[in-house]
Amino acid sequence: MYDVIDLDRVDLGMGEPTDEPQKQYYYMALLRKLVEKKKAELGRPLTACVVTFGCQMNARDSEKLCGILKKTGFTMTEEEQADFVIYNTCTVRDNANQKVYGRLGVLNGYKKKNPEMKVALCGCMTQEESVIAKLKESYPFVDLVFGTHNLYRFAELLWRTYQGKGMLVEVWKETDRIVEDLPVDRKYPFKSGINIMFGCNNFCTYCIVPYVRGRERSRSPREILREIEKLVADGVVEIMLLGQNVNSYGKNLEDGISFAQLLREVEKIEGLQRIRFMTSHPKDLSDELIQVMKESKKICRHLHLPLQAGSNKILKAMNRCYTKEQYLALAEKIRREIPDIALTTDIIVGFPGETPEDVQETIDVIKKVQYDNAFTFIYSKRTGTPAASMEQVPESLVHEEFDKVLKCVQETARSRVARYEGQVMDALVEEINEGSNSEEALKALDAAPGEVLLTGRLSNNTIVHFPGDADLVGQIAYVKLTQCKGFYYLGKRYNEEKT
Ligand code: SAH
Ligand code: SF4
Ligand code: F3S
Repeated sequence: MYDVIDLDRVDLGMGEPTDEPQKQYYYMALLRKLVEKKKAELGRPLTACVVTFGCQMNARDSEKLCGILKKTGFTMTEEEQADFVIYNTCTVRDNANQKVYGRLGVLNGYKKKNPEMKVALCGCMTQEESVIAKLKESYPFVDLVFGTHNLYRFAELLWRTYQGKGMLVEVWKETDRIVEDLPVDRKYPFKSGINIMFGCNNFCTYCIVPYVRGRERSRSPREILREIEKLVADGVVEIMLLGQNVNSYGKNLEDGISFAQLLREVEKIEGLQRIRFMTSHPKDLSDELIQVMKESKKICRHLHLPLQAGSNKILKAMNRCYTKEQYLALAEKIRREIPDIALTTDIIVGFPGETPEDVQETIDVIKKVQYDNAFTFIYSKRTGTPAASMEQVPESLVHEEFDKVLKCVQETARSRVARYEGQVMDALVEEINEGSNSEEALKALDAAPGEVLLTGRLSNNTIVHFPGDADLVGQIAYVKLTQCKGFYYLGKRYNEEKT
């Protein structure tokens, strides 16, 4: 993993620097000494566990947390019975919050057995005042709480946690800062997410993200390209550009760069093989972007285009700023220009005021667009959002409608995914499929001796399992898609170039 930060060069005698990220390097150096001391006292490693809830943004933030923990001498573990456990939380739907509270109870049990143990919480949930109040009241054993805007201060906050007693809480309402050059420990050596922007300005009426992630801020293109170049030099072949609405990238920057222009620059980076991005708001998707995608050799044939609802009445109440007709026209244009693209979406069922007739409109869009995949959610009321004060649909009425939507999504997705059966496609091999690596499975797939079952991802985001050498992990392989199993394929390694 690339790493340019040398903690040995931090002069602790000079005291705390005022600039960032130097200030954080200083606290990392202090922490490293503290961890060394504790390890010597205990005669064992000091372990740390980072648990991620929520979206790709949180996954990327967790890699930053892991980077700092590793850098300061912690031994990372997936086991929650560790010396330091941090939950990087999500609050987009209430069930995400409930999961965290449930698991915190379990952590309290572990903490009683391990006097060394520290528990921390960060991420979107902690940006809510009601959550902080609940933690103080019912979960006083939590040692550290911080938010989404000050994650870059993690080293300093952790060091202060070890200095004091009781719960340390530091949550900021807003920030206009983007601190670069902190250590990152990637989950996969060969692929990586990259933040291109933070926050959201769209205020869809059901959504809490703008309140917990703040206003939209784009990173400078220079910093983004520099980060990708470093990642590629470090072995990354696929990147995913991350933002709540990547189509409005650059709007707050002085150089006036658009997302499509950024993509053109990213495409030029030699050695980079695949480019993905998440998420595109339909209202801001430009013709220029479609053109760039069409011409690109690296941008994957996948576009996630959240619909949320098909009825114009509901779309308006959601403040999505497009109509059903505009969405359908856009989807059609994309399919016309890039016929091999996979379209996926997000759908909410049960938004305030939604009737079975409105849900039929959603189903109509699903049938017309024929999504390759769709994530379907039951509406969850989020305190503080405009939709929370609208008249809610009783949950008992939502389930039936939800099942209808889900069934429709599954049917269309199944037929869409199956259309490539028999073709040869490039797959980035992501891992060895440990779960189904039985001898029978391998035999059924004609595996050669010594081969294992691998899991790869096609450009259009579909998964394929096929037998091959374990050292293919991290590489692009050509695979014949022999059998469609609903949402994924079984395949066979194909040694020549794509047909
Ligand atoms: N910025 C992205 C989405 C981020 S949240 C976008 O606009 O597409 C991911 C998905 O969660 C959303 O697309 C939406 O479908 C769902 N979601 C957000 N708030 C929700 C709520 N209150 N209840 C149910 N689903 C919600
Ligand atoms: Fe939420 Fe809408 Fe912003 Fe997506 S675009 S994060 S759904 S407010
Ligand atoms: Fe959840 Fe925050 Fe992402 S609320 S979906 S983790 S931006």
